[in-house]
Amino acid sequence: MPKLVVANWKEHPESIEEARALFSALKGLPCIVCPPFPFLEEASNYDFGHGAQDVSWEDEGPHTGEVSAGMLKAFGVTHVIVGHSERRALGETDAIINKKILKALREGLIPILCVGEPEAIHEKGTAAVEVYVGDELKEDLKGADPTKVIIAYEPIWAISTSGTGKTDTPADAADMIDFIKATLGVPDAQVLYGGSVSAENAESFLRVPTIGGVLVGGASLHPVEFKKIITYA
Ligand code: PGA
Repeated sequence: MPKLVVANWKEHPESIEEARALFSALKGLPCIVCPPFPFLEEASNYDFGHGAQDVSWEDEGPHTGEVSAGMLKAFGVTHVIVGHSERRALGETDAIINKKILKALREGLIPILCVGEPEAIHEKGTAAVEVYVGDELKEDLKGADPTKVIIAYEPIWAISTSGTGKTDTPADAADMIDFIKATLGVPDAQVLYGGSVSAENAESFLRVPTIGGVLVGGASLHPVEFKKIITYA
């Protein structure tokens, strides 16, 4: 299975001109770019893979601020990040995430479900981390076909903006990815690692055969660095 490289631009860049410059730098590259919603139309002019950062669980209606799967598909979006820790921190629950996963699957979008533990759980050790991530998987994927979902293991404390300055090791990430595959009961599931992936450390994660790719935040806004990550993949 080819390694997948996903760019999560979060709430960047500030202008369409900057977005266009980034899109041009990435054109033709084997990666999935998830820009903010207002840049999806412009993104659809470029031949990389198209993703979004969130999706509504409803088709349409009185849901201020929400964007439906149909609206995303109109711009060529095939993949959608669901349950990112930054959305969970805003109050997105496992029940909401589960509805979004089921909706994405019904609409033929491939969800990239983010799971991962906060620092306080990490400090308790592997058993606590497995309970935490295992519960997320169980709740978020209720009623879903686990073979149709991509998982991104993103320990919250390792995300570049978490302020901890810590990064996960490829060996520990690989152990969690094995745990996730076993929990899903899908030995060949595509499970990505995310959290401070950079041009410096990407190779060490990507050379682990069981790590299915990387979800990249900060470094994906720097084309030279991001292209190096794609080259390793
Ligand atoms: P980071 O973000 O690469 O900047 O740590 C990853 C993410 O939050 O998806």
